[in-house]
Amino acid sequence: MRKKVDFLVIGSGIAGLCFALKAANYGKVCIVTKSNIDDSSTKYAQGGIAAVIYHPDTYEKHIKDTMIAGDELSDRKIVELTIRESTARVHELVEWGVNFDRTATGRFALAREGGHSEFRVLHHKDITGLEIEQKLIKAVMMNENIEMLENHLAVEIITQHHLGIEVSRRTEHITCYGSYVYNPNTKRVQTILSKITMMATGGIGTVYGNTTNPPIATGDGISMVYRAKGAVAGMEFVQFHPTSLYNPTESPSFLITEAMRGSGAILKDDAGNDFMKKYDPRGSLAPRDIVARAIDNEMKLQGCDHVWLDATHLSKDEIFNHFPNIYAKCLSIGIDITKACIPVVPAAHYSCGGIKTNEWGATSIRHLFASGECASTGLHGANRLASNSLLEALVFSHRACLKAIDEIPQIDFCNSIPEWDTSGTVLNEEMVLITQTRKELQTIMINYVGIVRSNLRLQRAFDRLEILYRETEELYKRSILIPEICELRNMINIGYLIIKNAIDRKESRGLHYSLDYPEHREGNPVTRDAL
Ligand code: FAD
Ligand code: SIN
Repeated sequence: MRKKVDFLVIGSGIAGLCFALKAANYGKVCIVTKSNIDDSSTKYAQGGIAAVIYHPDTYEKHIKDTMIAGDELSDRKIVELTIRESTARVHELVEWGVNFDRTATGRFALAREGGHSEFRVLHHKDITGLEIEQKLIKAVMMNENIEMLENHLAVEIITQHHLGIEVSRRTEHITCYGSYVYNPNTKRVQTILSKITMMATGGIGTVYGNTTNPPIATGDGISMVYRAKGAVAGMEFVQFHPTSLYNPTESPSFLITEAMRGSGAILKDDAGNDFMKKYDPRGSLAPRDIVARAIDNEMKLQGCDHVWLDATHLSKDEIFNHFPNIYAKCLSIGIDITKACIPVVPAAHYSCGGIKTNEWGATSIRHLFASGECASTGLHGANRLASNSLLEALVFSHRACLKAIDEIPQIDFCNSIPEWDTSGTVLNEEMVLITQTRKELQTIMINYVGIVRSNLRLQRAFDRLEILYRETEELYKRSILIPEICELRNMINIGYLIIKNAIDRKESRGLHYSLDYPEHREGNPVTRDAL
């Protein structure tokens, strides 16, 4: 049965929930989310949310830090508006009930992370994301204008293509009419028509074998928009977090927040040397791309599986009050971080690229907005400054709502959309084909498209991926649709976009480092439209 809503929101992390809460003041909202409501990267955010709160910090300083981290590829206009709106958006979170840690005098306790010139990261101990996600879910659940459909996976966005009208990447006015969504109760694909659709599907980390991201991060929104011929940008810029806990049996990898280095923890090699000073005068608090590359290099030079993070000199008060979750986690695997160093290794963490949006979160497809990690707003350029992503989601979900309510009175539902076509499909009896291909993809990406790249490695990845792509498309066409095959198809699509954009970028910049092109090339813009 088809459903009609004013606003369809795909995803229930910070971006989707904030948009829904705002849009609900103007119409009926339906949130579809492919797992449990709180299953998101948002829930795992540790360090916090960057915003300009007190003197001596200024908008200008935060703007400058963001521009430096972005390695000249951030869009200055977007950076300025995001940072200037940071204070208002954070206060709104507080009004929704989010508790940030405060000092004894009641002021916000601000932390510092790599690349930040000031203490400006608001946090709730080392579980900031959990606090935000829980408070937003509470507000959403109390709102009668919001319907929440858990375990519903968006399969495709609906465009003219589904009316039999051919569209290409050059077609003007591709329009989004809603989404085809997998309904777990009927095990069928349902049509949801909407006037406005918000894509808020989060990141892509699971494309890599070693990631801090939860399993939902399969790049679905970016793939759906790419297949619908929408603009996607900057996919080569995959951020590896320098310090995930080295614990080979655990997936996803547990994060050791950068805020720990902000509090004074130091990266060391096996011999106890502070090796980061060799790479950057800012040492362990240099921007993430530099630190992750340095660790990767040290591991290769010394032939070891990890380096160490030494927090033993931090006060016990600081450990127990600011990092209780990390303390407990490490203790659970036999490491008392007040006495012993933590084994750490880089892991795929964040996608700076995604669905290209303008300053209102609008995509190249009419009536389709994107916010959060699946979007490429221009804020992060070639490398995201720590704790700027939760902020970006808040700012662009707010701006997208302002624009959407302006557009919605002129939009009608498209009633001629056909139901999902299931002809010629049969039940896929061989899950192994899906699980094995997924593992192969993850191995290809981590081995050939990781922190350090080369022409040879990228070409090898491209060739291997082509085989996986062909096999999976064939399987998809003849199988009755299940979420696992949709996710696999999306992951392969994301792998393709990352590799293609990486091949096209013939320089090293920010998170993209190539052995064949170690220098910057002047005037090189963000890679657009990978095909
Ligand atoms: P998510 O929170 O990931 O939500 C995506 C939602 O979309 C989920 O509900 C998912 O189920 C749903 N979804 C996906 N595909 C579909 C589909 N096909 N159909 C229906 N639903 C779908 N950033 C910071 O700024 N500060 C931090 O301290 C910080 N720490 C981090 C720590 C960790 C361990 C990780 C992994 C990330 C961290 N980040 C941090 C990054 C930040 O958490 C994410 O970028 C941000 O939370 C993304 O929010 P989002 O709403 O875009 O996506
Ligand atoms: C962290 O806490 O180190 C993660 C912060 C981020 O990804 O922005």
